[in-house]
Formats: sequence, structure tokens, C-alpha cells
Amino acid sequence: MAERIYLSPPHQTGNERRYLEECLDLNWIAPAGPHLERLERMAARATGCSRAVAVASGTAALHLALIHLGVGSGDTVLCSTLTFCASANPIRYQGAEPIFVDSDPATWNIDPNLVEDELRSLALQGKRPKAIIAVDLFGQCADLAALEAIGGKYGVPVIEDAAESLGASFRGAHDEPDTWRPAGSGGWASLISLNGNKIITAGGGGLLCTDDARLAKAAAHLSTQARDPAPHYQHSQVGYNYRMSNVTAAIGIAQFEALPDRVAARRAIYARYCKRLGALPGVTMMPEPTTSQGNRWLTTLLIDPAQFGADREAVRLALEADNIESRPVWKPLHEQPTFLDCRCRGGDVAERLFRQGLCLPSGSAMTPEQQNRVMDIVEAARQRRSQAA
Ligand SMILES: Cc1ncc(COP(=O)(O)O)c(C=O)c1O
Repeated sequence: MAERIYLSPPHQTGNERRYLEECLDLNWIAPAGPHLERLERMAARATGCSRAVAVASGTAALHLALIHLGVGSGDTVLCSTLTFCASANPIRYQGAEPIFVDSDPATWNIDPNLVEDELRSLALQGKRPKAIIAVDLFGQCADLAALEAIGGKYGVPVIEDAAESLGASFRGAHDEPDTWRPAGSGGWASLISLNGNKIITAGGGGLLCTDDARLAKAAAHLSTQARDPAPHYQHSQVGYNYRMSNVTAAIGIAQFEALPDRVAARRAIYARYCKRLGALPGVTMMPEPTTSQGNRWLTTLLIDPAQFGADREAVRLALEADNIESRPVWKPLHEQPTFLDCRCRGGDVAERLFRQGLCLPSGSAMTPEQQNRVMDIVEAARQRRSQAA
């Protein structure tokens, strides 16, 4: 059996060991320490935010943001439907309800026009959601400038779910078309993820990034069990054990140093896939709109079975048979059993992207030979009709 090719495995820089040893030598094996502080400074710089709070996961970062907004039972929060469940789960942790919104075919991300339609119709009923969670799908930024303007008009804060888009950038407001901003600087707050499959990883962990000093202070407090300043243990609020460990941060620092290289590598991988596979009949590569320069975390394409001669599942199974991991595009959250009772504005676009979309191996350490292996299999699958349902 040929060596397995993974979708997005960790890519070490060589400095992880050095920073880990430093951390051990200093005996900062705790949810506090110099590496943690350094990681937060690096994340703030990379996202263009004045503050970054390092926590146990991207999910925890989003949860803390929602808590600070006072999201609770009876509230609603708008959220992209085409995303991983972690973009919406914290809404439910708070006892609130997500309202899902379909994708814009030009970006695959939350459609700003549908967001505005939904906010307008809720306003007519005297209702206002507590937040808009805009996901940067597969490393491609949502149209954040448009979403910020709409959120501002209706008084609803935007949270950028930049879990997948660290290192990407997006175009500024429409009256400043030449300004580019880093992923993570959109809206009121953002989250990034350092999970094992992300463009850089600490083996887990996340950061809440914001210019709102009160949010950053509250998140740091809540993430450390909401301990009040007192010599004994004193708590005025329910807190969480969400703080990142200094040991995790040590790995994260080494990875952050390599972020520009990792973005360049993933974009080059996308370009090679695009050149060969993008030319096949029935294949459409994930577009890059004029509003975003993505990090191409995962190269993703659509397969139209009528033109290609095989469907997405047939291609995925052919890759798996050759020990290559690929994955369907996220199943829309409004179709997930746990969210079936939630409202969704639109949904057809996300449903089609799920039916036809496939994410190809995109790890930044991938060799041209490994990429050729993937592309050979995709090409060979063309003539085979899917046996799968
Ligand atoms: C879009 C999106 N949001 C949120 C998360 C949650 O991040 P974490 O795994 O660090 O909790 C992930 C990935 O895991 C993600 O892909």
C-alpha cells in the first residue's frame, strides 16, 4: 500500500523542540508564562488586533465572546450554514438559537444580502439577533467589509470565525478598495484555531482577537475560572477552565514564525491543482473573489457528475482506495440532525456545494510527487461512474 497522504497534517518548523525545551527549563508548565504572552503578541500582530487571548480552542474563544455579549436563552445568533459545527455549538451552549444563512456562490461564505434580508425581516418583528458569526471558509475570507456595514446599520456585532483563515486577507470597506486587512481583524472580535489540522498548529488551542479591551479582559478572566483578586479563592461569576497552557503556546510560537511560508506553500499547492484539475470538464475550483486573498488552507473543488463522468463520492472513494485522505465540503449545519429545528435563510447554494464539493490533501509539506499522485487518481476516476448512493 502506498504511503498515506493526509488532508492537512501538522508541518513542523524545527523550532518547536527548542521552545518546548526552553519552557521546560524555565519550569513554566502551567496555564501562564512567557510563551503564552509571546504567542498572544504574535497572534495580535498577525490579525491586526490590539489584543489576543490564548485559550484551549477556537470553540472556547467563540464561547467566551458570546458570553460577553450576554447571549442567553431566547436569543438568536446569525451564523453561516456552510461550516464546521463548532461555529454554531457555542450558541447552543448559551441556550440560544442559531439562525443559519446560506452561502454566496461567489465566495462560498455567508451571503451579505441574505444577512441583510434576515435582519430587516427580524427588525420588522421588533427582533434583533445578538451577533453575526461570519466564517472564513477553507481559508477564504467572507465579505467582511459588507458584513460590518450591515451589522453596523442594524446594531448587531460581527464575529469573524477565522479558525481556518489565519494568514489570509480581505479587502477593506468599499470606499477604501485598496486597503487590505488581515484575517482576524473583521468585525468586533474573531477567533483563530490552532487545532492539529489547521495551517499552523499547537496541537490544539485557539485565540480570541479583538480591539475591545473590555472583551479581552473579560475573556482572560472567564477563561481562568473567573477568579476575583483576593488571597483566597473568590468567585463572583461562573468561570471556565479555558486558558491555554504555556507548553502548548511554546509549540504555537514556532508555528507562528512560519506562517507566511505556510500560506505561500498552500497557495502554490492550490495553483498546481488548479492548473491541471481545473481544466477538466465538470470541475470548478473554489473561486477567489476580489474581496479576499485566501490562505488556501484546503484546496476545494466542485465536481459536476454529468460533465465529469463520476460524482464527488466516487472520486473520494478512488482516492481512499489509494490511501489518500480527502473529505466532502462541510455538510450544511441546517441539514445536521442536531440543528434540524433551526431556521435557515436560503440553503440551496450550501446544499449544492456539499453535494459536489471535495477537499483535497493540502498540507504545506506536500511534495509535487504526492500532488501528482492525487491528481492522477482524480483524473482516472473520471470515467468511473459512482457505485455509491
Ligand atoms: C470554521 C471553524 N470554526 C471553529 C472551529 C473550532 O476550532 P477548535 O477546533 O480550535 O475548537 C473550527 C475547527 O476546528 C473550524 O473549522
